[in-house]
Amino acid sequence: MSKTFRIAPSILSANFAKLGQEVTDVIASGADIIHFDVMDNHYVPNLTIGPLVCESLRPVTDAIIDVHLMVKPVDRIIPDFAKAGANIITFHPEASEHIDRSLSLIRDSGCKAGLVFNPATPLDYLNHVMDKLDIILLMSVNPGFGGQKFIPETLNKIRAVRQKIDGSGRDIWLEVDGGIKTDNIADVACAGADTFVAGSAVFGAGKETDAHRYDSIIRALRAELAGC
Ligand code: DX5
Ligand code: ZN
Repeated sequence: MSKTFRIAPSILSANFAKLGQEVTDVIASGADIIHFDVMDNHYVPNLTIGPLVCESLRPVTDAIIDVHLMVKPVDRIIPDFAKAGANIITFHPEASEHIDRSLSLIRDSGCKAGLVFNPATPLDYLNHVMDKLDIILLMSVNPGFGGQKFIPETLNKIRAVRQKIDGSGRDIWLEVDGGIKTDNIADVACAGADTFVAGSAVFGAGKETDAHRYDSIIRALRAELAGC
């Protein structure tokens, strides 16, 4: 049986002057999910986009919008993103005062919910909330910027989370974010990930000669997954 793999380009590396077109192009090129990085210049040292941009993109695509919150506090922005059309909302557990409450808030807003782990954040946060998770996002760089180098130690963490998910018997997606390229996506998949965020790798490789601009790079990423 072939596994389901999902490619989730991070629009952090897209051209913001033509964001709607970038989203249309990357989905037409075969991407599955739009990864939407929200940074607040407080939890992380960078400032990006909020619910207004999500709301503007919603009519542009039917694709899943996967909102990765790098903000503190977490709760007050969740309903705004749900109203703006987000499908998935993830947050960093150490940025929430009450993790269980934040996860419930996301699900009660009609979205799928997930926790995000930085490279050095322990997995203990998973212990009491597996039944409230639809997705687990492992960072393979420290959050805040696109274009950083993949941290290889993440591979062990992916294997550990894969075991926890399989042991739970639940259908929880395992997403990995940061520094994913054609030369390491197969390792990430073989370690147990099923959903791959790629920002600079995808948007840095758009070719005018491709029918949908990102066809070649998405095909190349998928080809690497074929062996896992
Ligand atoms: C980093 C973001 C990532 C980032 C990925 O804080 O969460 O989604 O944009 O970009 P690349 O693929 O360039 O590492
Ligand atoms: Zn992200």
